[in-house]
Amino acid sequence: VDRPIELRSDNAAGVAPEILAAVVAAGEGSALAYGGDEWTDRLQRRARDVFEHDRARVFPVVTGTAANALALSAMCPPWGAVLCHDTAHVLRSECGATSMFGGGAVLRGLRGHSSKLWPASLEAAFADTRWDDPHHSQPRVLSLTCPTDRGAVYSVAELAAVASTARGRGLSVHLDGARLANAVAALGCSPAELTWRAGVDVVSLGATKNGALSTDAIVSFDDHVSEELVYRTKRAGHVASKMRFQSVQLDAYLTDTLWLRLARTANDAMAIIAAALREAQSRGAGVELLGDPDANMAFVRLPAGTAHRLEQAGVHCYEMGDDVVRLVTSFQTSEPDARDAVQRIVTALG
Ligand SMILES: Cc1ncc(COP(=O)(O)O)c(C=O)c1O
Repeated sequence: VDRPIELRSDNAAGVAPEILAAVVAAGEGSALAYGGDEWTDRLQRRARDVFEHDRARVFPVVTGTAANALALSAMCPPWGAVLCHDTAHVLRSECGATSMFGGGAVLRGLRGHSSKLWPASLEAAFADTRWDDPHHSQPRVLSLTCPTDRGAVYSVAELAAVASTARGRGLSVHLDGARLANAVAALGCSPAELTWRAGVDVVSLGATKNGALSTDAIVSFDDHVSEELVYRTKRAGHVASKMRFQSVQLDAYLTDTLWLRLARTANDAMAIIAAALREAQSRGAGVELLGDPDANMAFVRLPAGTAHRLEQAGVHCYEMGDDVVRLVTSFQTSEPDARDAVQRIVTALG
């Protein structure tokens, strides 16, 4: 095999040159610590501009887990419940961080007929809630993930509908946007349309998966949550003394639509791979595409032994068990890479 093709995770990708260059430039000279610097100031203005919200506030944090857990703990009282999809990263893959920072707030996983939540999913959860009963955690926050952990993208209308059902019962709405750029690029909507205009109060904004070096962020559209986050980020050890190096990454990321251009490359590569998988499925090659690869991630069931042959052919992907593999493209997956991956997959399928 001449060159492996990386489809394990977008976290395996490198750094976008524009972002690396911005970090290098910020390394000249000195600046006030803990976010009192010009880059952090510029980032705040940039986020207000990009999200078209004049009270938006950005809190750089080091991981998506920190963004989710700190945002949700600021939104939910300790006696509250955060409703999320059963597949949600906050529930499945963050080792209880939200409950720890939330002082005991619980996560309640809901099932839908796909990886999305729908108004009916929430209504069923509400019907199954003992409201005003102090023996039971009270639903206070809805946490949505877009793209979902299975790679599907809510349309703006779908997201607004489920957010509206939540708000109708007094819940606030959090969006895990670990791959928000991929969703916005896939929909061709504005960042505002998929967030606060659709009823979202607080966003976990991913950047590391899509070209940043070492930062994600919380974007809050709610003044009360923003005030909480000032102190909660500090207590959690997420107010970096050299915050300017995170802020400069996020500022470069959001400048001149870089984040959307990077995401489009990843999405376009996945579209090529997904089309080939669909074609293989329709000609009865034993492939089953699970869910909707709307952005940069696909889950596929392959004939037994194929995953091993794929690895031998230099296509790196995660085996999820039960002959299912996860394929994820990134801003580094070029069109030739995607076509090469398709060739190798077709060969591995025999
Ligand atoms: C949907 C989603 N949310 C949150 C995260 C958490 O990010 P991190 O690994 O930086 O804590 C991930 C990471 O894989 C993710 O896929």
